[in-house]
Amino acid sequence: SWKKSMSTQRSCQEITNVFYLQGWVRSVRSQKEVLFLHINDGSSLESLQVVADPSLEKRDLTFGSAVEVQGKLVKSPHRMQNMELQAETICVVGPCDIWSFPLKMKERHPLEYVRQFPHLRCRNNTLGALLRIRSEATAGIHSFFQDNGYVHIHTPIITSNDCEGAGELFQIETSSEAKESAEKTHFFNVPAFLTVSGQLHLEVMAGAFTHVFTFGPTFRAENSQSRRHLAEFYMVEAELSFTESLQDIMQVMEDLFKTVTSTVLSKCPRDVELFHKYIAPAQKGRLEQILKHKFMIISYGEAVEILKQAPQTFTFKPEWGCDLQTEHEKYLVKHCGEVPVFVINYPYDLKPFYMRDNEDGPQHTVAAVDLLVPGVGELCGGSLREERLPFLESRLQRLGLTDAYQWYLDLRKFGSVPHGGFGMGFERYLQYILGVDNIKDVIPFPRFSHSCLL
Ligand code: 4AD
Ligand code: MG
Repeated sequence: SWKKSMSTQRSCQEITNVFYLQGWVRSVRSQKEVLFLHINDGSSLESLQVVADPSLEKRDLTFGSAVEVQGKLVKSPHRMQNMELQAETICVVGPCDIWSFPLKMKERHPLEYVRQFPHLRCRNNTLGALLRIRSEATAGIHSFFQDNGYVHIHTPIITSNDCEGAGELFQIETSSEAKESAEKTHFFNVPAFLTVSGQLHLEVMAGAFTHVFTFGPTFRAENSQSRRHLAEFYMVEAELSFTESLQDIMQVMEDLFKTVTSTVLSKCPRDVELFHKYIAPAQKGRLEQILKHKFMIISYGEAVEILKQAPQTFTFKPEWGCDLQTEHEKYLVKHCGEVPVFVINYPYDLKPFYMRDNEDGPQHTVAAVDLLVPGVGELCGGSLREERLPFLESRLQRLGLTDAYQWYLDLRKFGSVPHGGFGMGFERYLQYILGVDNIKDVIPFPRFSHSCLL
C-alpha cells in the first residue's frame, strides 16, 4: 500500500514528493466539494484514503475497479488515519461490473458466502487477512526450523509408498493411461501416488543430517465432508535422530506451536484481531494465555478412563483399543480446561507399522503422540520410529509388506539410530489459532470430495 509505494518510490518522494498508489477500490464516496476513495493493495487490512477533486471522478471508478493514483501524501486531518493521498491523477486500469460482482461495498460477507467464489474471495477482508497470516506463519515455520539447525528437505509429491497404510491414496495415471483401458503399463513402471506424508523420506534424510523438516502439500482421498478434512492440505513435518524419548518430540511440537504463534501475533496484529473480533470472539486473549503455560500430557490409557467416567454418553463407546473419535477428543480437551493436550502411548494395533514398540505387558502400546487442541481435535501426530531391525522386520512380515519396504529396512541395517518425528496439519493450526470453524476457509483453494473448483 502507501508504505510500500513510499519505499519503492523513495527517489521519487525525495525529489518531487509524488506517490503512486496501485490497488483496488474498496469504497467511493462522492461529495459536492470532494471525492473520497479507499484503495487497498493487499499489503495490509487498511486501505489508504485518497481525497480528490470531484472533477477526477469517472463513470468506471467504482467499487472493485483497479486503479492507479498519483498524488501527494500528506498528514491526514482525520483521527482514524495518519496519512492520506491527495490525488492529482486517477487512472482506472480495470473497471469492475459492480452489478455482477459478487462482493458488495462495505458489506461483511459470511465466510460460507465468499467460499462460492474462490477466484474472487481474496478481495474480501477476512480472506485477505487469512492469507497474509498464512504467509507469515509459513515464514515463521521455516525460520523456527532453520534457526534451530534443521535442514529443509523437499520430499517428493509423487511416491510409490503409502506411509500411513490407511489406503487413502490418490493414484496417478497419465492421460493416455486413462484412455487405454486394457493392458495398462505404468508411466513409472510401478503404481504411483500423491504423497500422504513426507515422513519416510524424511527418515532417510534424518539418517544423514540428524535434524530435518519439510513443509509441503499432502493428499488424502478421505471421503469426508467434515469441517477439518481436506483432500489437499499442507503438512509441516520434522524428524530428529539420536532421540530416545517421546518427550523430546513433544518439546519440539510445543516450541514450534508457541514460536510460530508468537510471530503471527506480533507480525499481523490487525489481521488476527479481525478474526478474534468478528469470527471467534471467545478466542480473544486466550492464545496469549496458552502460550504462557506448558501443554498437558495424558496417556491413552488415562484418556480412556476419563472418557469412561464422563457424565455424557458417546456415539462410540470408549474402551481400551478404540480409536479416539472427534467426540472423544472434544470431551478430553474440555475435561483438561480447553487447552492443548498431548495424548501418548496408543495401542499397538491402532497405529501404523513404523511406530516404536513399547514392549509393555498385555495392554501393548507404541510410543505415539497426538496433540489435541480445542475446537479442532487432532492438530499433530507423531511417534518414536521403530529403529530395531528385528522388530520392524517381523511387523512388516505380518503385514506382507517386506518386499515393498526393503529400502526402509536397509535404513535399520546401515547406521540405524533411535529417532522420531511428527507432522502438524497447517490448516488445522490456522483453524485453531484464528477460531475458524471450517477448514475450507483457511486455504486459498480448498479441495475436498466432490469439489475441485478452479
Ligand atoms: O496424523 P497424521 O496422519 O500423521 C502422519 O501423516 C505422520 N506420517 C506425520 C509424521 O509423523 N511425520 O497427519 C498429521 C496431521 C494430523 O494431525 C492433522 O493435523 C493433519 O495432518 N491432517 C489433515 N489435515 C487436513 N485434512 C486432512 N485430510 C488431514 N489428515 C491429516
Ligand atoms: Mg494422526
